[in-house]
Amino acid sequence: MRIAIFASGNGSNAQAIIEAAESKQLNAKIVCLVCDKPEAYVLKRAQQFNLTVLVAAPKDYASRLDWEQAIIDYLTEFKIDLVVLAGFMRIIGENLLNAFPIINIHPSLLPDFPGRHGIEDAFKAGVKETGVTIHWVDSGVDSGPIVSQENILIQDEWTLDELEIAIHKIEHELYPATIQRVVDNWSEFKD
Ligand code: GRF
Repeated sequence: MRIAIFASGNGSNAQAIIEAAESKQLNAKIVCLVCDKPEAYVLKRAQQFNLTVLVAAPKDYASRLDWEQAIIDYLTEFKIDLVVLAGFMRIIGENLLNAFPIINIHPSLLPDFPGRHGIEDAFKAGVKETGVTIHWVDSGVDSGPIVSQENILIQDEWTLDELEIAIHKIEHELYPATIQRVVDNWSEFKD
């Protein structure tokens, strides 16, 4: 199974997935990273692992369609089977969606708290529990079929920062484990 990771920012999930593959906990090859932000910290992480990188900022392309096509061409050249979004902060267009199976991680128990601020929104809403969701990507926002979820009870004394740390800890284990499940059940999942 040949995987491309897409990330826009810090890249802690990207790193967890790369490390899981290196340690053979995840039986897949992380072939490349696609990043839309030239200044993103995830690029430093990729460099440490000697990972092939495509930096593709939409503003450097004539249109959004051109940007998307450049990414499709790149993934096709590298024979990618599965795209894994790990903090990729752009909407995926129809062409890319139709070209590759894509999964995403979201820091809430979807369908609750979709959008950019899943952790903060749950915290501010005062809910007793939240969590992490991994789902297939469709044309909506954080709306595709759910592959896995893990919940966490929000302790009364926790600050937002503490909740964020707890959520990321779950993410770093749940994402590689879920990708492994997708790999193990590939014939069932890919249709
Ligand atoms: C994670 O919380 C993920 O759920 C969300 O974006 C964040 C990315 O964090 N989609 P990182 O860049 O992997 O550290």
